[in-house]
Amino acid sequence: MARLDVRVKTELDARVAYISRDEQVEECVSIQELSLSGALVFGLSSQLKEIFTIRPTLPGYGEVELLAKSIRTNKGGVAIRIFYSDKDTMQALWDHIRGKLILGDSCPYCGYADSSREGTCKKCDRYLNFSKEIYLERHVENTFAQRLSIRLSRLNLEHFHKIIQFVDSRLLKVQHRSPDKEFVGTSPGMLAVFAMIRKVAPTEMSVLLLGESGTGKELAAKALHTMSARKDGPLVAVNCAAIPESLLEAELFGYEKGAFTGAYAAKKGKFESADGGTLFLDEIGDLPSSLQAKLLRFLEDRLIERVGSSSSKKIDVRVVAATNSNLQRSMAEGRFRPDLFYRLNSFTIKLPPLRERGEDTVLLARHFLERFASNEQGPKNFSSEGLEAIRRHSWPGNVRELENRVRRGFLMASGDLVDSACMELGEEDLPQSPPAPATKNIQSQKEHVISVLEQNDYVIAKAARELSISRPSLYALIKKYSIDKNDNK
Ligand SMILES: Nc1ncnc2c1ncn2[C@@H]1O[C@H](COP(=O)(O)OP(=O)(O)O)[C@@H](O)[C@H]1O
Ligand SMILES: [Mg+2]
Repeated sequence: MARLDVRVKTELDARVAYISRDEQVEECVSIQELSLSGALVFGLSSQLKEIFTIRPTLPGYGEVELLAKSIRTNKGGVAIRIFYSDKDTMQALWDHIRGKLILGDSCPYCGYADSSREGTCKKCDRYLNFSKEIYLERHVENTFAQRLSIRLSRLNLEHFHKIIQFVDSRLLKVQHRSPDKEFVGTSPGMLAVFAMIRKVAPTEMSVLLLGESGTGKELAAKALHTMSARKDGPLVAVNCAAIPESLLEAELFGYEKGAFTGAYAAKKGKFESADGGTLFLDEIGDLPSSLQAKLLRFLEDRLIERVGSSSSKKIDVRVVAATNSNLQRSMAEGRFRPDLFYRLNSFTIKLPPLRERGEDTVLLARHFLERFASNEQGPKNFSSEGLEAIRRHSWPGNVRELENRVRRGFLMASGDLVDSACMELGEEDLPQSPPAPATKNIQSQKEHVISVLEQNDYVIAKAARELSISRPSLYALIKKYSIDKNDNK
């Protein structure tokens, strides 16, 4: 078989350095044979197992530093592998080799006698124009596939993962680490979300976060804040759906003393509290239209007016808004102002539902279980059947539901593995079973109400809308079934 690189006889002094028992050792050795990928060295300790540096002094050039590893003892010396170095070093090495090369008629790679000096060897196909300036480039290009396959044969799966990540990060400019380690995901959809967060966080733009309930909108808002220049300022969150309409204006904009009955003292609102930081307006789709106008005015001129005040005040706040409702539909139905929508929609990040995130479900499940197990005694792993059930479930409540089910599994597991039964996962995901007998209906309605409440984080207005019943009816059901938020969290 042909050599990959031509090997020449030479006589070079070199210094070798390595670490032995925590101490740096230096030895002087002599290189007697040299190629671009290896050498025969005399005077080197044959016990040396680690990677070391070798610094040959190349006449007319000076010292170069190479990384190397012993392969075997050979002809009274040690054969070493030289790792591919930077371009200048490789060129210096090649210039030295070329000077020592005795060119006969035969190919120095494979020995083929009738090889043409002008092009490539007819037998082994190596590039042979040794006098050309571009020899090294051509040679490396010519042997690239072989070099690569030799290296690939030494790699394991973990290496491949690292290489693919590295290539992706360079070529696609995708960073595989999420904005913070609490924000878990490696699916393409989540990598795109992380990339957008990184891009927009340092700017002053308003951001609109879209996505079903439990997909991580609040977490994204936190990441936007902590990755911005405002990170040392406050992050204030307001859930627009959770505060009764009559109180929301005062809550957001504050009020002056005597503005309304009961306003005994002036109070600042959330906008003022967030001054210098970020205001997270959650469930923006539920903002009453009078306040939509007020928010729009703020986004345009950064001024707020307390309730009962006749003057306005300049506030430095960045607004991040979120909703899981369909704003397009709300606009079509006249419930959301298009001008506010377009103002907020200038940068939108859509969080994909969990069912579209592939193996992220398993990744997240392990993340939550690890977190619970680090605080409390309990199982640290899932059974393989439990993982299958996690993969199969459709996760209508998204990451919040997953977190709750893993918590339930962690608390209910009897052995040291979390399985589908203790997460109450499974039956509903199997192929449709016949309808439940009538006696079970009360139970299933109660469970349905609880699950819709959980998916909506116990925001009554939203849960009622999803159940297509009025708020009072939902309160009645909660009372009837004695549903307690804290029992089901
Ligand atoms: N990608 C994620 N990695 C880790 N935890 C997440 C992720 N997405 C959501 N969570 C967690 O799931 C729960 C619900 O997320 P949240 O941001 O409140 O969702 P949303 O605001 O969209 O309803 C929170 O406890 C949150 O920390
Ligand atoms: Mg939320």
